[in-house]
This record gives sequence, C-alpha cells and structure tokens, in this order.
Amino acid sequence: MIEKIEELKNKAKGFSISSKEHIEEFRLKFLSKKGELNDLFDAFKLIAGAEKKEIGKQLNILRQSIEIKYNEAKDKFHSDSKETKEKLDISLPVNSYKIGSVHPISIVKNQIISIFEHIGFSVENGPEIEDDWHNFSALNFPQNHPARDMQDTFFVDKEPSGNYALRTHTSSVQVRLMETTKPPIRALMPGRVYRNEAVSSRSNCFFHQIEGLYIDEKVSFSDLKQTLYYFVSQFFGEREIRFRPSYFPFTEPSAEMDIFLGTETEEDYRLTKGTGWLEILGCGMVDPQVLLNCKIDPDKYSGFAFGMGIDRITMLKYGIKDIRQMFENDVRFLSQF
Ligand code: PHE
Repeated sequence: MIEKIEELKNKAKGFSISSKEHIEEFRLKFLSKKGELNDLFDAFKLIAGAEKKEIGKQLNILRQSIEIKYNEAKDKFHSDSKETKEKLDISLPVNSYKIGSVHPISIVKNQIISIFEHIGFSVENGPEIEDDWHNFSALNFPQNHPARDMQDTFFVDKEPSGNYALRTHTSSVQVRLMETTKPPIRALMPGRVYRNEAVSSRSNCFFHQIEGLYIDEKVSFSDLKQTLYYFVSQFFGEREIRFRPSYFPFTEPSAEMDIFLGTETEEDYRLTKGTGWLEILGCGMVDPQVLLNCKIDPDKYSGFAFGMGIDRITMLKYGIKDIRQMFENDVRFLSQF
C-alpha cells in the first residue's frame, strides 16, 4: 500500500499542467470520485491492524499535495486569462480631478486683510440687507438730504415703512461695531455692497469693499496717514501717495487717497486719465456726531476710517479689462488665478 501511495505521488508530481485543459484532466485523473486517489482510499478501508494509522497519514499527505497542485494551477491560469482580457491601455488620457481656485477678488481681499492683521486689525461682518439707521442715519446722512444721492440705493420692501435697503457701503458694519464695542476698536469690514448704477465694463450694480476703522484715545490724522502709507507700501510697493480733500457725511476732515502710477506705459496713462495719479480710497476722521450716535464719548475718543473698492484694485492687479468677467463664473476665466 505504501508503495502504491508513493507511486501515485510521483505520478501526480510528474503530471505537467501547461494549459487550462490539463487542469481538468488532472482533476479527473486524481481528484474525482473515479480518480486514482479515491481508489486508494477505497482500498484503505479494507486495511486493518497496526499499519492502518501510518497508511492513513501518508494518504492524507498525498491528498493534500495533489489538492495544492490543482489549486495552484487553477490560480495561475485564472490570473493569466484575466490579465490578457483586461489589458490596460496606458496611453489613454487620465481623468484629471478638477479642483477649484480662489476667486481673484478673494485673493486680493485676503491679501489686504493679512496686511492689516499684521498691525492688529480684526475682521468684522454684517448683514447685506441693512436698515436706514445703520446705512445712513447713524452716519450723518439726514432724511431727504442730498448726500443720500451720492449712493444710489436699492430699497427693499421688507416692511410697510420701507426702511430697508441693500447696504450701499460696509460703513454700516462700522456703526454696528461701534454700538456694541467699547474702544479701542481696530477692525476691517470686507463685504459686498450694492448701488443702482448702470452696468458697464467699469462699473457694476454690486461690488466689494473693504473698510477700516480705528478708534481709541488720541487717534489723529497722522495715524491715519501712516497706516495708509504702510498699506500702500505692502500692497503696491514703494509708491508716492497724495491726499486730496474730499467730503463724506461721516468723516471730518475727509480725504481721498491717490497713488502715483505715472504715465509711462499706455496702460498707466489710460488708468490715470493722463494725470499719473490713481484714486484708491476714501478716508477721514470719524465725525464726533457719528461717535455720539453710537454712544461713544467724542471728548474721550477719536478715530479714523477708510474704505476702498476691492474690485477695482483686483482689475488693476491682474489687468482685467471688464468688471463683469469677474461675476460670470466662466471657468476659463476663473481657472487662471
Ligand atoms: N463708505 C465710503 C464709500 O463707500 C468710503 C469711506 C469709508 C470713506 C470710510 C471714508 C471713510 O464711498
């Protein structure tokens, strides 16, 4: 019996499986009910006595080795055929994952914020639908005063009294902040604002502003100038700047700040209308009446405020010719930034 086991072992070992068909042949010959291994097991049943244990052991070892050979052959040919069927075409273009980019207005806004954060300014937000008090009255725009015409307003009929409007500037956030915070206050108010203006390549009925407010004891106009010098040098590089007297109902004195671009290039000539100077922002010392309106003691505190349009600065920085492009959400435009 031991010899027969040995013989079958050699037979199975010597059986070469070189194709899928051979696997089935191998199974029929050795592993099926009518196969040779089964014959040996049948014969084994008739054996009695001391040798039964050893023969049983040898038979099991033989069965295991045949099964291993069978399974290995199956795996091999199975994976071979899979490879040929699913051959990868590595010349196909890959599906690239499209990730978004930061909107140019956000890029510029974040740059401006980070410049002012370095000198201690925080960021404040407020509602875009604003009441008359925060957008106008607290800022010294009296009812029916022509100064309200400076900013063509979109009114919102939210209440029968009709006192709500889309904010025309983020100065409304300054009011909210002054009403609720004890000085010192040092904050930036970025956000979207709305004005009823004809839409063209240079102006839109909404745009983005970033305003700043600094209130403390003994804040002076020279603090305002120095803060804005610092901003210009960080954002535009070392440039000449100038202040021109101006008027805003909520600041006194008021000024507009220009930076010098020159007229050397055609672009600079056009941007500055031939003067070399480009208007960048409005600013001034907060009117004491505005402080009073917000319950801040003007005898103790003073402050300055400034405001600039982010859209214009963004167009300047990236050479964008038409303001409307920034709001069409065309990926060909947006993915350039
Ligand atoms: N709120 C003004 C505007 O929208 C800008 C400004 C802010 C001017 C603060 C002076 C001080 O035009």
